[in-house]
Amino acid sequence: MPPPTLLDRREFLLAAAAAPVLSACNLPAAAGRTREARLVAAPIRHPVRGDAHPPIDAWAYGGSIPGPLIRARQGDRLRVELENRLAQPTTVHWHGIRLPNAMDGVPGVTQQAVPPQGRFTYEFALPDAGTFWYHPHVRSSEQLDRGLYGLLIVDEPEPPAVDRDLAWVLDDWRLTQWGAVSESFGSPHDISHAGRIGNAITVNGLPPQDLRVRPHERIRLRLLNVANARIFALQFEGPQPVVIALDGQPVTPHRPPDGRIVLAPGMRCDLVLDATGAAGERHAVFDTFYPRQAFDLLHLVYEGAAVRAKPRPEPPLLPPNRLPEPELAQAVTHQLRFEGGMMGRMHRATLDGQSLPMMALLRRGKAWAVNGVVSSGHGEGLHAGHGHAEPPVLVLERGRSYVLAMVNDSSWHHPIHLHGHHFRVIRRNGRSTAHQEWRDTVLMDPNERVDIAFVADNPGDWMLHCHVLEHQDGGMMAVFRVA
Ligand code: C2O
Ligand code: CU
Repeated sequence: MPPPTLLDRREFLLAAAAAPVLSACNLPAAAGRTREARLVAAPIRHPVRGDAHPPIDAWAYGGSIPGPLIRARQGDRLRVELENRLAQPTTVHWHGIRLPNAMDGVPGVTQQAVPPQGRFTYEFALPDAGTFWYHPHVRSSEQLDRGLYGLLIVDEPEPPAVDRDLAWVLDDWRLTQWGAVSESFGSPHDISHAGRIGNAITVNGLPPQDLRVRPHERIRLRLLNVANARIFALQFEGPQPVVIALDGQPVTPHRPPDGRIVLAPGMRCDLVLDATGAAGERHAVFDTFYPRQAFDLLHLVYEGAAVRAKPRPEPPLLPPNRLPEPELAQAVTHQLRFEGGMMGRMHRATLDGQSLPMMALLRRGKAWAVNGVVSSGHGEGLHAGHGHAEPPVLVLERGRSYVLAMVNDSSWHHPIHLHGHHFRVIRRNGRSTAHQEWRDTVLMDPNERVDIAFVADNPGDWMLHCHVLEHQDGGMMAVFRVA
């Protein structure tokens, strides 16, 4: 079956922007072919507040926000040429893709950052079907915030039949009163608190618009949170969606717990929505993560003739990806303690080999540590490429199963992302999770303990970090080595 047709206007825009990438994509493809794409990272003018307002200065891949939709099929290879037309060095990280270390896009660790006017070719196979994304790994908190991000969808060999396959790329912008991107990057307050929370939400780069749905339509909706710091907890009025995948990996289909779909930065969630409303009905999709700032994201507006007589009865099933199953009985456990920030217990931590009190760390733009060590940022800063590698926080034996007992010893939320691997979330605060879900990014609530398990099967030096990008900048990052 070819990838589902994209009919919605926003999706149409995404697809149109992606035309060069997708030119061959609707043909039945033999598995294992190579898809080629070009990503030019450059400044653009972008109508972040819609066409009624002047466009703002932003940065983008391929002239659009989000960047071109890269779509391929499980087992394909992807070859992407990055061209840097920014005034800063940059890289591309392929968030959630299990790829060879040299293609991971981390400056100072897996490659030299690509200088202005430079190019770099990424090439790797796509082992997993699912919803993934790409973004820079240099000055992430600035480069993503200005608009550098895009979706990477890897289709199952036989995608589940749906009437429409849509994506909502959720972003949060901090705009000044003049409507421009606020230049307050690296503010000590953002670094030491919840990160750069903004004041303008976009869906697929534009102000949210209502989605027209037809009665009894079955929609696959791919959610991705690319915000620097804002966490979403989406709730659907009316028919409840079914969660079918998290971070690209299929999960036992289930209704979202308490009706809330929690998406921290970096996370994805694939939903199936069987639209059981009747023509003329309107159902809000609203956000309640910050209860005192709950807002309506958009509405589902039922229109037109029913797609079929009754909603589809059968649950939507995704074929699993082939992930190495951790053997818990033999697994070695390591503890990872994430600490720091305001209202925390961290009094001092080690930066560049020196133990420093909190005030001294704050003066250096740092506020967070992993196992007592504050990341100096490797090559992630403006002088990317001259970063020095920090010793790994963990050295894991290739092919072995591990449990990482992660402790959030702070008063803040942290979505922790591991590169190069997916892991099962096996316990929260000592209790087994309902779905033992595979993820590449797991949200830790304040003071929560989360145990994850995985096989360290992908050799190399990999980042693990908080995906609140100001926390990452502020030191909540480390390298784990698989050797
Ligand atoms: Cu999505 Cu290291 O990042
Ligand atoms: Cu964090």
